[in-house]
Amino acid sequence: MMFDRVKPLSAIMATAEKKGLRRSLGAFQLTMLGIGAVIGTGIFVLTAEAAQKAGPGMMLSFVIAGFVCAVAALCYAELAAMVPVAGSAYTYTYAVMGELLAWMVGWALILEYAVGASAVAVGWSGYFVGLMRSSLGIDVPLWLSVGPSQGGLINLPAVVIAALVTGLLIIGTTESARVNAILVAVKVAALTLFIALTLPMLKGANFHPFIPNGWGTVGVVGAASSIFFAYVGFDAVSTAAEETVNPQRNVPIGLIGSLLICTVFYLLVAAGAIGTIGAQPVRGVMGQILAPGTPELAQRCVAIVASGAAQPLTCSHEALAHVLRSIGYTHFGNLIGVAAFLALPSVVLMMMYGQTRIFFVMARDGLLPRRLASVHPRWRTPHVVTAFTGLVVICMAAFLPVGKLADYSNSGTLFAFAMVAVSVLVLRRKDPARRRPFRAPALYIVAPLAIAGCAILYAKLPLIAILVLPIWGAVGLLVYFGYGRPRSYVARGIVDVEEDAPPIHGVQT
Ligand code: ALA
Repeated sequence: MMFDRVKPLSAIMATAEKKGLRRSLGAFQLTMLGIGAVIGTGIFVLTAEAAQKAGPGMMLSFVIAGFVCAVAALCYAELAAMVPVAGSAYTYTYAVMGELLAWMVGWALILEYAVGASAVAVGWSGYFVGLMRSSLGIDVPLWLSVGPSQGGLINLPAVVIAALVTGLLIIGTTESARVNAILVAVKVAALTLFIALTLPMLKGANFHPFIPNGWGTVGVVGAASSIFFAYVGFDAVSTAAEETVNPQRNVPIGLIGSLLICTVFYLLVAAGAIGTIGAQPVRGVMGQILAPGTPELAQRCVAIVASGAAQPLTCSHEALAHVLRSIGYTHFGNLIGVAAFLALPSVVLMMMYGQTRIFFVMARDGLLPRRLASVHPRWRTPHVVTAFTGLVVICMAAFLPVGKLADYSNSGTLFAFAMVAVSVLVLRRKDPARRRPFRAPALYIVAPLAIAGCAILYAKLPLIAILVLPIWGAVGLLVYFGYGRPRSYVARGIVDVEEDAPPIHGVQT
């Protein structure tokens, strides 16, 4: 009884056709949206954290996290091409494994997208505050620039950027995508500049020892779990499938293309940072390993700088700018800071975009209040759900720190990725004859690898982030059984609805 509410694929497609959002995105725009969602806080802010765990071995961490995302992306691409509708992992799970698991995936995706968007907004706030100080000499007071856990009151810059992005999304996808494309160009130019300046100056000695902390939680695999955030977002491409021209061709190109481009960038940037100024973890006075984000590490960093030594990479909050300044390119370092300041909002935009589309389809299925799914008559965007998402993102960004938000986001994302891999496997067995415009190669190897990879990365997250998923899941179950389950359109035999008309009772499913 628990797993019997499957929404037929044909009904999903019919609903999407009838109620659909405007189809306006092509392969190039999708790839741009993917890169826009992926390159962000991970490489600009969290690289130092990965180095503190893995040292030069963070290059392996990038490879491990990228590999898990690549196999997950292949699974995503097969389903996204087959089911080209909004909703991503949520919709696929609904079609394959039923409403309860779909709800759990949609609920976990809130962690990925909304919490992830908040994390990036907070990361952006750090750059904003730094830029105000370095360029205009304006010190944003602490109580207005960080949340309570860091001694402040509210992170006002993060609130403002999240509100601006919400407005862009309400105006419309095409407009938002256009702004996004410009910001993606800024980001790619900044990373290209970084690579061009650093690669000629690599020193082999900086890569030794390559794996100073081993492979464990505070080592290469642990770093992979946290730097996984650097790849989060590529799946947002599939949430745009319903707004894509020829999704069968364009969605797989967008997913895999954006992931490949980002992986190459990350490896080159990591090599540039390590090879120029070194990336050995900072150790305690007794030689002990110090975990990133701890007061002990912060104190040690202060002591190192106070002693007159150069600031290590792992102590920097603006890793890439710091590298360039350290090798004599002060102006270029500042320029990288400006690029991050300009471009990180494109990541917030993509994550919020993904979140609004997931809320949209969950409301369209009757699992969330129906009013959330209304489409604006002129802009053709789900404006109510966008405003609601904006409020959620603003509240979290206002009060929580970036590292915690990134970890929580990862826990939800890893669950959703694993469920997509399970769905694609189940569907191959349950419905082998269905037309698959894109078939993941060697699926019986690729999908289990994706599931195992997600499980391993999840197990190597900090304990609190591991616990977030089951706790959030329990809340989700309460909401589902209290609100969504009795109102589900599938359960009530409503297989399709008109845009502005009351639900029409259709064929019993
Ligand atoms: N991958 C995105 C980032 O690093 C979420 O900011």
